[in-house]
Amino acid sequence: MIRIISGDTLDTIGPFVDRLREKSAEGQAPPPNFTELIKKSVSEGKTFLYSAYSDDDQLLGIGMFGDVSKRISFVFADGDQDLEIKLVDEIFDNHSKDCSSVAAAGPWITEVISNHLTKIGFRKFNRAYLSLERADIESARQPELFEDMKFEMYNESQRDEVSKILFKANDGFVDQIVFPHFFSTLETCNKVVSDIENSVYGEYKEPFSWILRNNGQIIGICLMSIRNNGDTGYIPYIVIDPDYQGKGLGRSLLIHSMKKIIDGEPDIVKVDLDVTLENDAKFLYKSVGFKNVREYSMYNWVNEGE
Ligand SMILES: CC(C)(COP(=O)(O)OP(=O)(O)OC[C@H]1O[C@@H](n2cnc3c(N)ncnc32)[C@H](O)[C@@H]1OP(=O)(O)O)[C@@H](O)C(=O)NCCC(=O)NCCS
Repeated sequence: MIRIISGDTLDTIGPFVDRLREKSAEGQAPPPNFTELIKKSVSEGKTFLYSAYSDDDQLLGIGMFGDVSKRISFVFADGDQDLEIKLVDEIFDNHSKDCSSVAAAGPWITEVISNHLTKIGFRKFNRAYLSLERADIESARQPELFEDMKFEMYNESQRDEVSKILFKANDGFVDQIVFPHFFSTLETCNKVVSDIENSVYGEYKEPFSWILRNNGQIIGICLMSIRNNGDTGYIPYIVIDPDYQGKGLGRSLLIHSMKKIIDGEPDIVKVDLDVTLENDAKFLYKSVGFKNVREYSMYNWVNEGE
């Protein structure tokens, strides 16, 4: 039997989450305060938590659906893949009717679950987590800009203008399918930028992000944050206005922004980012010297209605 854990039974998931942490591969384990984060998110109505119980009321598996990201963020039944599939189905049945799309992602997606997600209509997208060492950033040649162009520190008063570029550059492209809740409208793009500023994707400070101007008009932005207690720079997003792409500007903005963040933050040892492998942005990162740390997949289901 599968049922939603209500607030007062949330306490029972602690040992289960500990086991999930023990079994996770290095670098992929949920954070130590994961149980607290789940409890907070459930109590705020942002997360639905599912649990599978045996007939004698033993907790056998848990699963989570993020109501903001519309994402099945994990299921875990301690190696019982049939039960994990049941949890996936239960979550999907309960939430897919009301959503324009449902996503699923994470290291918990085994080959069996991957096949199941594909069978019930999810499309699989491969992604990669990339990294560039500090020394490579230091030795990268200082970018030169065309006349009339300049780099400028980003501030939140530019958010609306920047969001328009995010929307324009994503409309009709692969990341809009992979992340519909980020890139499907101007409003969601605006929220992506404000979430970055609010440290949702790593600790954010104002001098971390840079825009590129051409004759006064903003034509690109590289947003950055820091993670891992300050030893890792992270690039949640970089974009160049489609009218200006393919001229070496993405490369210049990326190198400029990374040089600035390592100058200001001496503890940074590397800069990381994630990319969808169907996105040609991967060629930029490769040509700058980023190395593949790991590949993973994201799954997306689109509600096509009746
Ligand atoms: C990714 C993006 C910022 C790149 O900006 P850009 O100004 O077009 O890129 P550049 O002109 O600086 O190209 C940089 C390098 O990538 C290579 N590259 C770019 N697109 C390529 C493609 N389709 N095929 C092969 N190489 C490509 C270029 O050849 C260049 O390499 P080089 O300097 O060794 O010659 C831009 O395309 C963009 O905004 N895309 C939409 C938003 C997005 O997807 N952001 C990334 C999210 S992870």
